Amino acid sequence: MTATAEASATATSNAVRPVRFHQVGKAFGQGRKSVVALEGVNLDVAAGEFVCLLGASGCGKTTLLNLVAGLDKPTSGRIELSSSRPAVVFQEAALMPWLTAAGNVELPLRLAGVSKAARRAKAAELLELVRLGGLGDKRPHELSGGMRQRVALARALASTTDNTESGSGAGSASGKPSLLLMDEPFSALDAITRDVLQGELLRIWRATGTAILFVTHDVREAVRLGQRVVLLSSRPGRVVREWDVDGLSGAGETGAVDEINGALRKVISSHAAA
Ligand SMILES: Nc1ncnc2c1ncn2[C@@H]1O[C@H](COP(=O)(O)OP(=O)(O)O)[C@@H](O)[C@H]1O
Ligand SMILES: [Mg+2]
Repeated sequence: MTATAEASATATSNAVRPVRFHQVGKAFGQGRKSVVALEGVNLDVAAGEFVCLLGASGCGKTTLLNLVAGLDKPTSGRIELSSSRPAVVFQEAALMPWLTAAGNVELPLRLAGVSKAARRAKAAELLELVRLGGLGDKRPHELSGGMRQRVALARALASTTDNTESGSGAGSASGKPSLLLMDEPFSALDAITRDVLQGELLRIWRATGTAILFVTHDVREAVRLGQRVVLLSSRPGRVVREWDVDGLSGAGETGAVDEINGALRKVISSHAAA
């Protein structure tokens, strides 16, 4: 919630965490009708880290991302943001239908006051990065679902990248780590497209070094993508367990998927019994 200056003050840059939760809670409504979505959540994301947040449907994953994005406020605890403006990629690409792909990617740059030439160049570079080079003049309805998510990803990268260096900003780049928030971004895609985009996201993450907080209810996806998997309990969501899944493959990966699946099932059934 509050962007604190203290984190950047002692810029031991590798110690700067783009986001830190301190006992964060969120309730909707008041009194007897109040719904407690999150309770006592403690969670950190390191600069450049890829964290997958896993949990059953309705456990508060979207609520948590919305808090980081500043779209909503915690009702208790606090969130310390030391990143450049976090950008969100949703399940549906939510592109502006009247703008071209390039126009959509340029939009956050336009809002940030980046000059026309600079934002054209940046949009072209980002479209190239998501392998849509040459399709910048297409409108969303002319693109497949997977392509639209690529545009959404490019737009999010445009928005979270530090834009202060363009124009007259004299390289006074804040040096703040970038943070990408992704809310089940591939779950509306067919299995093959999803598989391709997971690979693409890993490539782009390595190329950009951005931190990613990725929400999913799919254990396989979480283990494939994340360096760390964080399991949320059923509502009210709190962190129940974490796994380091960095660099796993083969039997190690299968083992982790099985173990985490077991934990997720336990979390869901304990809720159903309550
Ligand atoms: N704006 C809101 N008003 C009231 N209740 C909400 C609101 N947003 C979410 N909730 C409730 O909070 C809980 C968590 O929702 P959500 O964060 O969307 O879960 P998830 O993304 O994990 O499926 C759900 O019970 C949901 O109904
Ligand atoms: Mg959700």
